[in-house]
Amino acid sequence: MAEKTNPIWAWHKKVLEKNSILLTAGVLVVVSIGGLVEIAPLFYLDETIEEVEGVRPYSPLALMGRDIYIREGCYTCHSQMVRPLRDEVERYGHYSLAAESMYDRPFQWGSKRTGPDLARVGGKFSDEWHRDHMRDPRSVVPESIMPPYAHLERTPLEIEAVEGRMRALTRLGTPYDELDRLENAVSDIHTQLDPFAADYDGFIARYPGAPVRDFDGNPDEVTELDALIAYLQVLGTMVDFSTYEADADENLR
Ligand code: HEC
Repeated sequence: MAEKTNPIWAWHKKVLEKNSILLTAGVLVVVSIGGLVEIAPLFYLDETIEEVEGVRPYSPLALMGRDIYIREGCYTCHSQMVRPLRDEVERYGHYSLAAESMYDRPFQWGSKRTGPDLARVGGKFSDEWHRDHMRDPRSVVPESIMPPYAHLERTPLEIEAVEGRMRALTRLGTPYDELDRLENAVSDIHTQLDPFAADYDGFIARYPGAPVRDFDGNPDEVTELDALIAYLQVLGTMVDFSTYEADADENLR
């Protein structure tokens, strides 16, 4: 038989397979070769996420809304990732791109869908609908089991907190240090809530495509509901998928 004639196989059988320590060491060597081949190249790549046109950091108001989303535990019932499966794409829209969560720290992909995926909820409903839904979900979706969040429209937003959060994210690589975003952090919250604000153009230059209006229906006060709706309304809207598909086709040509 071949095992008898080949000295390496004979050694493998007699020595390696019968000595547990030697076998463990051998397994470790083989497994680490696999690990090196997979992991080492990542250290030589500048970027593992392909940049996609349109993806920009959250506006200060939306960023505060994102923190409220996390604080209230919305992620325990909602995912934010459309998987590339036909049923999901038909229900929610284009599957999520890695670049779309590049400024999400921590990401909000979630792991449970008691409610629908929210990755592309931006623009799907009016602000009024969101207001009613947050106040009392069953007033707009009678069979809903979502809890009400009526306190948000009564709670003033802690506006001054935004700058520190943006500074922290800048340290992690979010480019809030560009385009005077940090300098305008607090004033940009007020600007996003008022289409007639003096610095409208500056705000749009810093956050292209951001919706500008009073979100909670109460222009006299900046509330947590303003921030949360501003966040929900921008989700999944940064990439223009008509041109994104066209670009991809060009690359194929
Ligand atoms: C206990 C689970 C649960 C929690 C927590 C929860 N939701 Fe929901 N959510 C649901 C369910 C179920 C639905 C579907 C019925 C409905 O529209 O109310 C839903 C629907 C929604 C919708 C409409 C989505 C669509 O496409 O129809 C939005 C927007 C939403 N939730 C936002 C939030 C936000 C923001 C929070 C946190 C403040 C939150 N939810 C917390 C269960 C939850």
